[in-house]
Amino acid sequence: MPDKDEGKIARNYHLDVPQSGGGGFVVKGQDGCDWGTKNRLARMFDPKSGNTVMLAFDHGYIMGPTTGLERLDVAIPPLIPYVDVLMGTRGAFRACIPATVDKPVCLRVNYDSSVLYDDMSVGGGIACDIGNAVRMNASCLAVQTFIGATGEKNSLELLARTVDAGNDHGMPVLGVVAVGKQMERTEQFFLLATRILAENGANLVKTYYCDGFEHVTATCPVPIVIAGGKKLPEPEALTMAYRAIAEGARGVDMGRNIFQAQNPIAMCRAIAKVVHEGFTDKEALDYYNELLRT
Ligand code: R5P
Repeated sequence: MPDKDEGKIARNYHLDVPQSGGGGFVVKGQDGCDWGTKNRLARMFDPKSGNTVMLAFDHGYIMGPTTGLERLDVAIPPLIPYVDVLMGTRGAFRACIPATVDKPVCLRVNYDSSVLYDDMSVGGGIACDIGNAVRMNASCLAVQTFIGATGEKNSLELLARTVDAGNDHGMPVLGVVAVGKQMERTEQFFLLATRILAENGANLVKTYYCDGFEHVTATCPVPIVIAGGKKLPEPEALTMAYRAIAEGARGVDMGRNIFQAQNPIAMCRAIAKVVHEGFTDKEALDYYNELLRT
């Protein structure tokens, strides 16, 4: 059985060797998937950059009306033209997002304990099954996982069963690495958690940025997108996005650092410059400030 402390000895991440294993499909590690799954992923990832800007507005499923999302119908629609993928819950899409929208939907399909619980990792389940996700015209299913927490077994079971259901329908699954109160935000934790999710079948993984992030992206055989976490000043959020992309992330799935920004549309556009056009954080900040002036 592998030793959980094995990471303390030297490892070779082969940072200069791109991952092999397929026929050149733009999304890392997905060449072996069926046509439907690849077609859905191809809608999410830009064919030129191979990256994606996902807008996360699913916070209400555990947090209630987060700052900036008091009114989903007011906050989200103006941002839609500037992002590649919309990530939210079935209830939010139905009530607040026009069905005429032409952006792929990443549907959060699990429920969890609310933030009022001491341990959010316990008690999760499936909130929207595969048939209803297809009915929502989803392009991807998102499942939260709690590695190293009480709810680890339950959340990995939910992930695995969702991957099975996704496979039956050509539907990719985003595995989300949760960081609850008890969970660390170290390279060691994210190395472990992202790899566990990928090996249990997630087609892409959402996690947080950390020191040593290039090791996390190198050892995860599927694309990683970063969550933004709590609101940072805009320059710091752009630097985090820049570093993540420079260190191998294939995009962002951000919420609060976009919809709580002074100008959310400008923030979406600045983040997209980093994700798709190779802007540095400084260039993106200049661009953001220029948009504020116009
Ligand atoms: C995660 O569980 C949340 O539901 C959000 O999807 C995620 O945290 C991304 O949003 P933020 O960038 O605000 O952290």
